[in-house]
Amino acid sequence: MGLFHAETVSRRLPGARLVAVADPVGGEDLGADRHYTDADQVWADSEVDAVVIAAPARLHADLVVAAARAGKSVFCEKPMSLTLDDADRAVAAAQVAGVVLQVGFQRRFAADWAAARALLDAGQIGTPRLLRSLTRDPGGFDPARVPPNTIFFETLIHDFDVLRFLNPGAAAVEVYAVAEALVEPQWRDRGLRDTAAVMVKFDNGATGFAEACFQTTYGHDVRAEVFGSAGTATVGDARRTAMTFSGSGGRTIATVQSDQELFGAAYVAELTAFIEAVRTGTPPLVTGHDAREALAIALAAAESAACGQPVRVTA
Ligand SMILES: NC(=O)c1ccc[n+]([C@@H]2O[C@H](COP(=O)([O-])OP(=O)(O)OC[C@H]3O[C@@H](n4cnc5c(N)ncnc54)[C@H](O)[C@@H]3O)[C@@H](O)[C@H]2O)c1
Repeated sequence: MGLFHAETVSRRLPGARLVAVADPVGGEDLGADRHYTDADQVWADSEVDAVVIAAPARLHADLVVAAARAGKSVFCEKPMSLTLDDADRAVAAAQVAGVVLQVGFQRRFAADWAAARALLDAGQIGTPRLLRSLTRDPGGFDPARVPPNTIFFETLIHDFDVLRFLNPGAAAVEVYAVAEALVEPQWRDRGLRDTAAVMVKFDNGATGFAEACFQTTYGHDVRAEVFGSAGTATVGDARRTAMTFSGSGGRTIATVQSDQELFGAAYVAELTAFIEAVRTGTPPLVTGHDAREALAIALAAAESAACGQPVRVTA
């Protein structure tokens, strides 16, 4: 992910400059002025105003805190942390330092998702009653490199954020989750869960459903729906283009094959918005608080899947 973000800063964002890239093992030429092997070198670089954190999730919270303390604004990939204490620590560090903290929930910046939210804000969907968000990844993952609960903390966390995005102002109160290893069943005993479904109750009475699977046969499939008192918005289409081919075998459409193909424009839009927030000092469109609330749902979902019972979401 860091490669795409580095290329975006370097080539796709007019007015931004890729001053440095820090990666302990990264040797690629990403168009940066400087290459560091330690993030501490970035904190000490006075030409760096803002950083994009795309290291593995377990490192995020400490990196956010260190960046904020060095006075750098922060864009952090999801999940911002793996515990609520770390989320609070990261949010507090940014607040104390007075820097921008934005989190990588790019679906909010994807045109279809943003259009659904605009309809909600305009009152055309009415009051949300039922919501849905799903992620089906194209597969090809190495089960040995997938820590337990990744499906909740790294995949479904996007869907939990979408449920919140499409039910604005409501707080999740209770979660019931089931999860299985259906793609790689032999890894079940080692904690792998590659397929999951989660029901989320909100304090405004709406119920959300989130589901994910790490493997499809046809590419990357991400969708969402909000059904309200005045209408329904359905978003997400795995079509690569609007072209349908009709031939002797029937009708076919080509499908997108990766998250970068599906959300390429959204990844650029979220960094464009981040740079704008840094420049103008305006609040970012996706905050550390949003990251914390999505994580609270993910933690409850992981617990629910383990115990087989509904679990209250920690406020
Ligand atoms: N928003 C999205 O749709 C999306 C998509 C993919 C990944 N992600 C997120 O991006 C993050 C990275 O995922 P990935 O798949 O690119 O992982 P990855 O393992 O492919 O890449 C992580 C990189 O971080 C580097 N790294 C390790 N320790 C570091 C440190 N201390 N400082 C700086 N760099 C360090 C590694 O060398 C590696 O190059 C994860 O949090 C993941 O959830 C988000």
